Amino acid sequence: MATYGEGEPTDNAVQLMQNLSDESFEFSKGEHKLYGLKYVIFGLGNKTYEHYNVISKQVDEYLTKMGATRIGQRGEGDDDKSMEEDYLEWKDGMWEAFARVMNVEEGQGGDTADFAVSEIQDSLPEKVYRGMLPPSLQLMTICLYLSFRRVVCSCPR
Ligand SMILES: Cc1cc2nc3c(=O)[nH]c(=O)nc-3n(C[C@H](O)[C@H](O)[C@H](O)COP(=O)(O)O)c2cc1C
Repeated sequence: MATYGEGEPTDNAVQLMQNLSDESFEFSKGEHKLYGLKYVIFGLGNKTYEHYNVISKQVDEYLTKMGATRIGQRGEGDDDKSMEEDYLEWKDGMWEAFARVMNVEEGQGGDTADFAVSEIQDSLPEKVYRGMLPPSLQLMTICLYLSFRRVVCSCPR
């Protein structure tokens, strides 16, 4: 959760903050409570600002107050130094706690990427998509689109 403005949430977190702070707001189980919710939280901020990381602190406080359970420590990233180092320092403890609380085992994958990218040295130019379909395929796409429209438009309501 990032903090912006003068200790404010980002635009896409405004509604969330409003729902968390409004005690008359009911969640899906019909109360302003979140029993059973387990969460991890890492805040993004910058220590040069007066209201350092306040949004992640507030979310953490609201969730705890509503009966949710935090897994591990709340993490804090300081953009004035290195957000990435802060994250790396925090994440191992968090995953340990996560595995313990959720009763799961960390996979062997760990920090290994799921995909590898390799460069193909010899490829046929006509097999490489360069952002524009050849005319024959363009025509086929238009025909498919028109017949799809006809099928959809002629369906009984
Ligand atoms: C206009 C602006 C206002 C900010 N206000 C705060 C703030 O009040 N408190 C804080 O801890 N960090 C503040 N920050 C730092 C951001 O939280 C930090 O740069 C963070 O990395 C932003 O997340 P993002 O990289 O996902 O955009 C502010 C950054 C900007 C650009």
